[in-house]
Amino acid sequence: MVDTNKNKISSKHPVLDVRGVTHSFDYPLFSNVDLTLNEKESIAIMGTSGSGKSTLLNIFSTLLKPDSGEVYYNNQNIFTLSNKEILELRKNAFGIIFQSHYLFRGFNGVENLHISELLNDTKIDDSLIIKLKIDHILHQGIGELSGGQQQRLSTARVLTKKPKVIFADEPTGNLDKKTAIELIDILFEYIQQYNASLMIVTHEKDIAFRCDSVYELIDHKLERIK
Ligand SMILES: Nc1ncnc2c1ncn2[C@@H]1O[C@H](COP(=O)(O)OP(=O)(O)OP(=O)(O)O)[C@@H](O)[C@H]1O
Ligand SMILES: [Mg+2]
Repeated sequence: MVDTNKNKISSKHPVLDVRGVTHSFDYPLFSNVDLTLNEKESIAIMGTSGSGKSTLLNIFSTLLKPDSGEVYYNNQNIFTLSNKEILELRKNAFGIIFQSHYLFRGFNGVENLHISELLNDTKIDDSLIIKLKIDHILHQGIGELSGGQQQRLSTARVLTKKPKVIFADEPTGNLDKKTAIELIDILFEYIQQYNASLMIVTHEKDIAFRCDSVYELIDHKLERIK
């Protein structure tokens, strides 16, 4: 008899593998965090404010070295890579949508997107700009944009470089429900179209449960709840 379930499991391609990650700042934040993110799949991370969600994303995306544990990207331990290799990974493979948007404030929207095109040798996807409903604000200065408009522009900038893994830290925090759903739909479509993966931090349960798996950071442990 053919074991279809086994075939299904073996066809999964792990992109990010996290093993025993433990970290403290002034006090222990979390210990022995394990998870696997597969190609074309999404993971949501929930948890109360201050529990360490952004710190986890910083570790998974190379920005912070944990006290102990390993993070593998395509079977390579990212914390054993050279500085040059880490920079390559951040530039080409990882797309980080930060909780506070890092847009270049001296430039307008379209200039911010051009910077991403130049750095990554890619082209802005015009249909993405329309879908994100930011076509009419591209010539405004960053300081003139609302929080939600900056959030959508940051998303466009990150997707322009065609990352393999998107790390999104509360990307819908400033958006109304309808715009939030539209933005999440764009991220889900993107990972299917480009064989990428998504890790998203969110406080919104209905967004989290659309992901393939959901974890909660609670009592210093990352527990899987879906
Ligand atoms: N670089 C740092 N140095 C010292 N402490 C830090 C640093 N970064 C974060 N912390 C502390 O670690 C804890 C977790 O912070 P983190 O930003 O990861 O929480 P969070 O779960 O993302 O919260 P929120 O939902 O409010 O965004 C906080 O108490 C924070 O003050
Ligand atoms: Mg945070």
